[in-house]
Amino acid sequence: MTPDLLKKGAERVARSAQQRVESTESGGRNAGYGRVVQDANEVDVTHGRILYLEDVSVSFDGFKAINKLSLDIAPGELRCIIGPNGAGKTTMMDIITGKTRPDEGSVFFGSTIDLLRYNEPEIAQLGIGRKFQKPTVFEHLSVFENLELALKTNKGIKASMFFKLDSRQSDRLAEVLHTIHLADSVSKQGGLLSHGQKQWLEIGMLLMQDPKLLLLDEPVAGMTDHETERTAELFLTLKGKHSLMVVEHDMSFIRTISDIVTVLCDGSVLAQGTLDQVQADERVIEVYLGR
Ligand SMILES: Nc1ncnc2c1ncn2[C@@H]1O[C@H](COP(=O)(O)OP(=O)(O)OP(=O)(O)O)[C@@H](O)[C@H]1O
Ligand SMILES: [Mg+2]
Repeated sequence: MTPDLLKKGAERVARSAQQRVESTESGGRNAGYGRVVQDANEVDVTHGRILYLEDVSVSFDGFKAINKLSLDIAPGELRCIIGPNGAGKTTMMDIITGKTRPDEGSVFFGSTIDLLRYNEPEIAQLGIGRKFQKPTVFEHLSVFENLELALKTNKGIKASMFFKLDSRQSDRLAEVLHTIHLADSVSKQGGLLSHGQKQWLEIGMLLMQDPKLLLLDEPVAGMTDHETERTAELFLTLKGKHSLMVVEHDMSFIRTISDIVTVLCDGSVLAQGTLDQVQADERVIEVYLGR
């Protein structure tokens, strides 16, 4: 490149930097139109809601699995969802994460991100992490490698091959290891962990991506009592730093972690309140006992 071209390039850079300063100082387009460009890392929670579903319905072969479902969650909240088998709990998570498209209704992440405009990988990128019931850790990789791998997802092949943790990521990995109670098993192979530890590792893999909202479907199913207690501690630590939606059938676990409990039945909200309140609700007793 000739010195002349270099000089011209430098001038262009300086000019565009000056234009950016002027447009901000004069209250130009950016200021006038509010948030023009949606930063993928930014979720607008000024209205006090991180997740907002309104009148959502979906049918499978004429059967309404979700029926005019409306629900919202505050930032940092740990919301528990209960309901009988077939109530639509997993289908609701499928809709939030883009796995299933609803026939009607709105699904918003914060007040500006219309999730129905995004596909599954894009929704994960926006900061919604999902944990399915069955653990899916890489059995032949160590705990450390599994967590490290979680940072590489969504990167290109070349970027992944030369990927190296920076100091911020190393600190994050150490923090996550501690949070998921696996600091003593860092070199252990995923396949040698207990069922509960695999579940924690998978939660850790989600945490490595620092999700704003975490959806967890039956996280303590198959865990020992001790593992369930430790999972409750883990969720209480995550509350506030992340927003969580937890679907569970284990009522003593729900009792330990819950503030507000939403009861789903036949694809819509049947009741909502503290666990004591919903358990005393005649309609809830009826659907659980089938009276
Ligand atoms: N892809 C699908 N095709 C057809 N029917 C489906 C599909 N997904 C879910 N359903 C039906 O929708 C209803 C709700 O299912 P869903 O799995 O959401 O219930 P759930 O509340 O998660 O139940 P559980 O507590 O047993 O996990 C069920 O009757 C189920 O058979
Ligand atoms: Mg389910």
